[in-house]
Amino acid sequence: MKVTIDGHTIDVEAGTTVLEAARAIGGPSVPPTMCYYSKLKDCGGKCRCCLVEISKGSERDPRPMPKLQPSCVTAVQDGMEVKSATSPKALDARRAVSEFLLINHPLDCPVCDQAGECDLQNLAYGNKNFKTRYKEERRTFEPEDIGPYIQLHMNRCVLCYRCVKLADQLTPERVHGVIGRGDHAQISTYISKAIDNDFSGNMIDVCPVGALTDKTFRFESRVWFNKPYNAHRDCPTCSGKVTLWMFGDKVQRVTGRKDVYHEVDEFICNDCRFHHKNAEDWVIEGPRKFEKPSVLNINNYIRPLKKVHIDADELILEGREQDEKKISMPAIPYDAVELEAIKEVKEE
Ligand code: SF4
Ligand code: SF4
Ligand code: FES
Repeated sequence: MKVTIDGHTIDVEAGTTVLEAARAIGGPSVPPTMCYYSKLKDCGGKCRCCLVEISKGSERDPRPMPKLQPSCVTAVQDGMEVKSATSPKALDARRAVSEFLLINHPLDCPVCDQAGECDLQNLAYGNKNFKTRYKEERRTFEPEDIGPYIQLHMNRCVLCYRCVKLADQLTPERVHGVIGRGDHAQISTYISKAIDNDFSGNMIDVCPVGALTDKTFRFESRVWFNKPYNAHRDCPTCSGKVTLWMFGDKVQRVTGRKDVYHEVDEFICNDCRFHHKNAEDWVIEGPRKFEKPSVLNINNYIRPLKKVHIDADELILEGREQDEKKISMPAIPYDAVELEAIKEVKEE
């Protein structure tokens, strides 16, 4: 089937969603996502962050769709034409949706474990939601202990349902879910039951915000102070392929390996995630390449840096402020007083 998104046409298989087609094209046409997760079945359609404008329904029925559509649950039709980054209507709606997601959200980023790798931070930043217009009282919840390894901060939850889908599809029995509806909807275990099974830690990885946090890592470090390494071990329960987040030679956190859309490649077991915080337990493959622009990229290099020779006077490199500027302005000559000063220093 042929689909055109922002002027780029590609062939995709029947049943492909508009979002997946956009991901195949890549670049700015890819809509942001908060609830869709390609590794989980039937996941999406909850957050409305991925809205697109369908300007031509299909070859057979070329009428435009009257309303914006969530791209993650809209199947491509042959001849469909979609506007994503080129639709002011869709961009406005996405901005409004992210503002809406933030109305009850706390300003927790300075103390939130997700900061630095948070999809909501990225979304708000990308949509320029820098101010709130919300004056009403925000709904608040006490942090809830929902198991031996996971802490729930319901205040930060965006009700994306990813953790619910994951528990349904990966664990033998789901003991948590969304209870209440509308303004009362919240993630909780129904009868204060603990979430405790071999794969429950993956809920932390799929949560796009800091609502589900790793108790073994909470408040240990800001994520950008850790260096991520790909590592593996011989695990009888899962593939054992993980990312180790290290501070010096200390393993501070173990997570699944995430792809360019921040989705884990393979789910890992709780034993790998929570019980192997010793570097010797792992075969370390090497530093991890960062796929997504993020604060985590800062100061992380995966290749040895080339030595750069700067062809400038040694004295300039010593770093007087006025001299530093001259490095990029070699055409400006020293004045007589400066030349005299340089001569004196050299003679000393
Ligand atoms: S979930 Fe994201 S936006 Fe919310 S407090 Fe944590 S880092 Fe900030
Ligand atoms: S706890 Fe996280 S994964 Fe679960 S619904 Fe809330 S935001 Fe989504
Ligand atoms: S990502 Fe499509 S509705 Fe949430």
